[in-house]
Amino acid sequence: MRKQILAANWKMNLLQSEVDAWLSAFQQLNLGADNVEIRIYPSAIYIKDFRETGIHVGAQNVYEAPFGAYTGEISVGQLKSVGASSVLIGHSERRKLFNETDEMLAHKISACVASNLSFVLCCGEPLEIRSRGEHLPYVLNQVSTALRSVKKEDLQFLVISYEPIWAIGTGNSASNAEIAQMHLAIRNLLLELFGSASDGVQILYGGSVNSQNAKQIFSIPNVDGALVGGASLDINSFEQLFKALTQ
Ligand code: PGA
Repeated sequence: MRKQILAANWKMNLLQSEVDAWLSAFQQLNLGADNVEIRIYPSAIYIKDFRETGIHVGAQNVYEAPFGAYTGEISVGQLKSVGASSVLIGHSERRKLFNETDEMLAHKISACVASNLSFVLCCGEPLEIRSRGEHLPYVLNQVSTALRSVKKEDLQFLVISYEPIWAIGTGNSASNAEIAQMHLAIRNLLLELFGSASDGVQILYGGSVNSQNAKQIFSIPNVDGALVGGASLDINSFEQLFKALTQ
């Protein structure tokens, strides 16, 4: 049985005072369940704030080189040294706004695996690809290219998040049938690439998950949790998401 994951992608949101308030409210809620892992992906400047909380904290991006003249970038080693337990790789905003390619993501993934840092590989198609009916091969190609140097024994570091670009931040999540179809296709791809060693790899859904639709999304076969943007910023709404996963 795969452990479910409720992951918050805060993107470039929240000031220090707001992070402090979110964390103290979170601690008062005492959310916990054996089969659910909560993960927070804040801006990197806040990673250290999670140190004493026991919450899984991760970064939204990483650079593949170990150190050196890469102004503005952060390495795997640096992330680990401040307490990050994982990193998002290839979020569609990184791909679109910062021109990250599947090739570049494969290098980032190799750097994570080499230093035992877990990662969430994000994938998802733009609307025009779906309208042409090419979403399955498009997304499966994203996944297999990015994972091309990953071996069976590295799968412990991998989580996948399917996030159709047209569903991110739009209020229109994908339908149950669309999510079920893609998650099954990704699960089958993992089986083809890695065999039954891939059984433990979680596949999350992301894209306009909120407290209203979460329960229904979590009940879809092969959905092992969610990566949530907007609805994770407010602590009350985050609590509702957690309840949707656990009750
Ligand atoms: P959203 O973002 O929940 O605000 O749609 C999801 C994501 O981009 O990870």
